Amino acid sequence: MSTNWWKKAVVYQIYPRSFCDSNGDGIGDLNGITGRLDYLKTLGVDVLWLSPVYQSPNADNGYDISDYRAIMKDFGTMEDFERLLCEAHKRGLRIVMDLVVNHTSDEHAWFRESRKSENNPYRDYYIWKKGKDSKPPNNWGSWFYGSAWEYDQQTDSHYLHIFSKKQPDLNWENPKVRREIYDMMTWWLEKGVDGFRMDVISLISKNQRFPDGQVTGAYGEYGDLTPYCENGPRVHEYLQEMNREVLSRYDIMTVGETPNATVEEAARYTNAAGTELNMVFQFEHVAIDHGPYGKYTENRFRLSDLIRVMSKWQEGLSGVGWNSLYWENHDQPRSVSRFGNASTPFLWEKSAKMLATCLHMLQGTPYIYQGQELGMTNPNFSSLEDYPDIDARQAYELLVKAQRKMSEEEFLRCVQNLGRDNGRTPMQWSGQKNGGFTAGEPWIKVNPNYQRINAQNQVGRPDSVFSYYQRLIRLRKTYEIITEGTYELLDSGSNTVWAYQRVWNRERLLVLANFSDQEACCPLAKNPEVTRQILISNYDDVKSETLRPYEAVAFYERERADENI
Ligand code: NOJ
Repeated sequence: MSTNWWKKAVVYQIYPRSFCDSNGDGIGDLNGITGRLDYLKTLGVDVLWLSPVYQSPNADNGYDISDYRAIMKDFGTMEDFERLLCEAHKRGLRIVMDLVVNHTSDEHAWFRESRKSENNPYRDYYIWKKGKDSKPPNNWGSWFYGSAWEYDQQTDSHYLHIFSKKQPDLNWENPKVRREIYDMMTWWLEKGVDGFRMDVISLISKNQRFPDGQVTGAYGEYGDLTPYCENGPRVHEYLQEMNREVLSRYDIMTVGETPNATVEEAARYTNAAGTELNMVFQFEHVAIDHGPYGKYTENRFRLSDLIRVMSKWQEGLSGVGWNSLYWENHDQPRSVSRFGNASTPFLWEKSAKMLATCLHMLQGTPYIYQGQELGMTNPNFSSLEDYPDIDARQAYELLVKAQRKMSEEEFLRCVQNLGRDNGRTPMQWSGQKNGGFTAGEPWIKVNPNYQRINAQNQVGRPDSVFSYYQRLIRLRKTYEIITEGTYELLDSGSNTVWAYQRVWNRERLLVLANFSDQEACCPLAKNPEVTRQILISNYDDVKSETLRPYEAVAFYERERADENI
């Protein structure tokens, strides 16, 4: 049923908690989103992906769902959701839901039943194992630190949780679980939602031998479960079943979150025959600056690594799958702080636009994370107290308290650099109190730079970052080559300039981006046989021999002979 409309779409991710608070309780909500639909329409995006809005005790900000068919009270009611969907559709905006089905909350009715007894009908909805001499069944470390097994006295057994102990993993081996999930998905699709972003979907099939993992240090004393859970033995079978039972019956968009997926795996998930998903989120480019403790590092990225990884994915999925293009999401720091330069207003603006250019001229479906279109930055809060994320809290317990791998000051610098809360500070709507996000006390502090960086300042101002994003989105709708063209890297190994071209029929798109605060040499040999037009640039003019600090430009060329056609 799919018409592949998603290949031409631009997606905007909303993290509802931090987007817009309509009732002054300090937490963003559904009515807040509805009130901002015109803003999103003005930006020009096509699809809104909502991070989870379901009922949840909020151990992991909604990624721990206790009822898949109810709305979290903080966010409003089902009527609010239906109004949002209807108002979005009226404006031609589609809504994609977050689907978190690798795990539920431990407060989900299924889990409450499951833990009651070994012969409870819901027992096999989760992964329970007997321990070895009161120790967990194997050495797997949770991705949120500590053991991936939690002991439950009631039945003297352990349950598996790749994330926090409040997020027990579902047992996908059980056909009843799969049926429940497909029914729930159908229920939302019948309500009219336009697709799903599938949380850690590559983890749903576990190696049933449950062998010990290698102790690499990344999980402290625990072993790495990744090889036994990631892209597991039955994952493609499950997704094909889901596709047959649910997805293929609707004209929707699907994107799977697949940490650790290789290009080859991604090609299977997103195969052109459409038997699984439309696209996946790969993680390689957002891991290039990680250190021995993952994101808890002060490392900065190297451009040559970024170019290598992005090029690999562009080339690898060309013709066989489809890329999703992102710099940011609710788990990542702000891209202008990470890959750009937020140290002065001038460099901030140039580098925010430069990053937008590079990403939006690639092949794939671009994702804009709320506030990215304004160039929102990491907040650099001076206290760990201001970073409530469960991942950071648990990493602190392990890295600072238990294992003394780093001091508290070092850990704070790591969180300021790559911590997940960098992307979760409230959306900056205006220069008013709390950036116009809430009339109350925000659940997480607002970035102090909201008076300078905010939507009110930028919408309608032709040279703003927001207007630049509008132009990029329009270009994608106008030039087929942006969707269709093949990617070719022009200068591999540079540590200052990313230069690539897209080629399609007799057209060429040439993209040049300077990732440094110095002028960079970039001779633009011009072929007399072609006409060249500047599609977009973040400076007022274009010099022929050099790129100025964080300059980006995209040229469109077609052979002169074509002009007479
Ligand atoms: C990935 C989500 O993006 C992240 O926010 C969450 O903590 C984990 N999955 C667990 O659901």
